[in-house]
Amino acid sequence: MLGHIFMILVTGGAGFIGANFVLDWLAGSDEPVVNLDKLTYAGNLGNLASVQDDPRHVFVQGDIGDTALLDGLLKQHRPRAIVNFAAESHVDRSIHGAEDFIFTNIVGTFRLLEVARSYHAALIEPEKAAFRFLHVSTDEVYGSLTPQAPAFKEDHVYEPNSPYSASKAASDHLVRAWHHTHGLPVLTTNCSNNYGPYHFPEKLIPLMIVNALAGKPLPVYGDGQQVRDWLYVKDHCSAIRRVLEAGRLGETYNVGGWNEKANLSIVHIVCDLLDELSPRRDGESYRTQITHVTDRPGHDRRYAIDARKIERELGWKPAETFETGIRKTVQWYLANPEWVQSVQSGSYRDWVATQYGSTGAGA
Ligand code: NAD
Ligand code: DAU
Repeated sequence: MLGHIFMILVTGGAGFIGANFVLDWLAGSDEPVVNLDKLTYAGNLGNLASVQDDPRHVFVQGDIGDTALLDGLLKQHRPRAIVNFAAESHVDRSIHGAEDFIFTNIVGTFRLLEVARSYHAALIEPEKAAFRFLHVSTDEVYGSLTPQAPAFKEDHVYEPNSPYSASKAASDHLVRAWHHTHGLPVLTTNCSNNYGPYHFPEKLIPLMIVNALAGKPLPVYGDGQQVRDWLYVKDHCSAIRRVLEAGRLGETYNVGGWNEKANLSIVHIVCDLLDELSPRRDGESYRTQITHVTDRPGHDRRYAIDARKIERELGWKPAETFETGIRKTVQWYLANPEWVQSVQSGSYRDWVATQYGSTGAGA
């Protein structure tokens, strides 16, 4: 294969983080993107509306488990990198049924790795040396921390506790093995909880915003004292760009914003911002809508990321604080009611009825 390679392949680029990544990439670079996404319930072309007529964005609907499709796409577009966002991503859904998580997160990643391996083997220098496979993963693979334990470093033991995190852990191991055994030039990022625009309202922050504005209960699992470490999605995207550019082959990089907060305090912050930016007509606070509901089975108590390696080696730091990022996020949801309405399809209503039906927080 000869010729200058100037193109990346993104998988799962119609989902929350993938779409933000594609939008930010095209805003900052002329390099085209092929975007392969199955368009599950979580994938939404509306996230990509601003680049739908951009010739640098080629959208392909398809599955990362479809070897023939992947093979054809790599031969046709000859990307210099693959960035794998495609996954089933919601812990609660993995508890209701894990099969899609096994197929996409494990089998799909395996097939993508295999196709990438043959593609990479057929490349010639200098393209071969420049090729990268970046796997986007999560802090949940490390399990749960006690309150005083130090934050997760890259060499923390893998102790996944949910079907979702177990499937992501399996995919991380496959990526590692394809590097170690087959020499595939891989990079892995393990990031903490993201929030920001286009976040599907099955996840904590967008669910709370959407339910608050709809006058519905705000369902906090258990005592609400579980801790997550929040990062604005565009900071995650900048970290991935930086790792792609300068990460050391075969390494993993933890990505986080040093923003640990208990769930209940997140919900209070969201309510207080809504009280300020879109107050209830009756003058009451949105906090009055908070309801404690049955806890998530196997609920991890605390995640926290030690992000010193990516800062030290690659000079990456988040641009947003939690205060600036959450304000932008709430403002985005207030400014985009059509997007919210468009993602609340029949399947979304079925999900909230299944998960929250008995609590009053469902549709
Ligand atoms: P998401 O659920 O919003 O989006 C996933 C996307 O993948 C959707 O567009 C979906 O259609 C697509 N997809 C699903 N199965 C597919 C398949 N078989 N083939 C092709 N496309 C498929 O998820 P997200 O929150 O954007 O997460 C993206 C990635 O980042 C995931 O790998 C997730 O594990 C990881 N991650 C997420 C977070 C977070 O806080 N959301 C944090 C760390 C890591
Ligand atoms: O840590 C990174 C992970 O963050 C990603 O790998 C996952 O893809 C992503 O979904 C997210 O997982 P969480 O389970 O942490 O996110 P979620 O938004 O589902 O829940 C955040 C916390 O809020 C968690 O402790 C459960 C709680 N929660 C969630 C929902 C949906 C509630 O209390 N009530 C709710 O209705």
